[in-house]
Amino acid sequence: MSETVLLIGGGGREHAIARALENSEADLYACAGNRNPGIARIADGFETLETTNPKAVLEFAEEVNATIAVVGPEAPLQAGVADELESAGIYAFGPKEAEARIETDKAFQRRFMAEHDIPGCPDFETFDDMDAACEFVDEYDGDLAIKPAGLTGGKGVKVIGDQVTAEEGKAYIRDSDYDRIVLEERLIGEEFTVQAFVANGDVRTAPAVQDHKRAYEGDEGPNTGGMGSYSDATTALPFMTDADYDDAVSIIEATVDALEDYRGILYGQFMLTSEGPKVIEFNARFGDPEAMNTLPVLETDFLEVLTAARDGDSLPALEFAPQATVCKYAVPEGYPTEPEAGAKVQVDEESAGDALLYYASVDERDDGIYTTTSRSFAVVGRADSITDAEEIAEDALEVAGEEGLHMRHDIGKPELVQQRIDHVEALRSE
Ligand code: AMP
Ligand code: GLY
Repeated sequence: MSETVLLIGGGGREHAIARALENSEADLYACAGNRNPGIARIADGFETLETTNPKAVLEFAEEVNATIAVVGPEAPLQAGVADELESAGIYAFGPKEAEARIETDKAFQRRFMAEHDIPGCPDFETFDDMDAACEFVDEYDGDLAIKPAGLTGGKGVKVIGDQVTAEEGKAYIRDSDYDRIVLEERLIGEEFTVQAFVANGDVRTAPAVQDHKRAYEGDEGPNTGGMGSYSDATTALPFMTDADYDDAVSIIEATVDALEDYRGILYGQFMLTSEGPKVIEFNARFGDPEAMNTLPVLETDFLEVLTAARDGDSLPALEFAPQATVCKYAVPEGYPTEPEAGAKVQVDEESAGDALLYYASVDERDDGIYTTTSRSFAVVGRADSITDAEEIAEDALEVAGEEGLHMRHDIGKPELVQQRIDHVEALRSE
């Protein structure tokens, strides 16, 4: 039977998913709130629609006779897009609203980990009374991370002792109108991501990736959706041991077991502490940027994973090319606090050289492609080493130029990678 895949979402992550399906024997259709020019070029059809409106997504899915849907971002999952498709008999690779709570409700996520004795859970308390939360900050012996329970695009968390003082933290709790927050032990270490392909009880994990959340070089500035990321030619990253990677995989497996019939991508965000990996959060989808590290080295046909998932079969073992990757986002100047849109994007898929180019939130006009107020595009280098992959990514950024754009040149550079290694060594020897 020939397959028709509907891809939902229009960011860099979804451009990477589209590429992973480009050479498969499936027709590909896509829908998103923005017209992503990279995806539109690959897909047989592209519809601009509100992806958090399940009925609108279903209508397009039925119009193109989709046999499988892949949901890229978290917002449609939270809105119940997978549930709507499923009730109309269209298989969605992505969790239903209830299972997506592992990402969309951080209070649920922490309680779930505690209830099921899943290892790697920091100490936490949940609050819907903000005065009580402030009292807890005063009484707690140590630093806390303040986390709104709902989705904030990775920008709502404030860590006391890192980004804010205790007083600033309390002001943040009082002044933001969050209904519910989680206060949890501040974890110290190096962050990494492991993404797992999950269906029918099977868990197939990808190599670890390290994202860079802070807007500016040297990990300064506000948190963003992610400025860039790297992976190594092995499953672990240079600052990790294979045992650390295996511990993270065990945590993901325990979580999938407890979730019972989870399907889609389960993304574990970990902090490698002196006591091993601890969970910062789970996401119910590929990471953005991390999908751009993982999917370009996936040698197994992604369509095969999707059809096995739908048919109730065991998922194929995943093969990854033994290559390092470095992904760097170009974002509008001023991002994320005061982004300025409207710069013309000077790099295209041909001029990017050996790098892969992924479009994100850009606007395609008659005379070219322009930035909006969100992350614009990413370049990805692939090579035998992180250092070589980084140089390939930098060459592509040079073509793009810096006008109206901001990027972190330090991501994947030997100095920064070495700092991560030294950091973990220092923590381990304490
Ligand atoms: P999240 O939205 O949960 O991914 O959090 C965003 C960022 O806040 C993470 O990538 C971490 O850098 C930081 N963060 C979250 N929770 C903690 C924690 N318990 N300890 C230290 N940093 C944290
Ligand atoms: N890279 C962070 C995220 O996708 O949430």
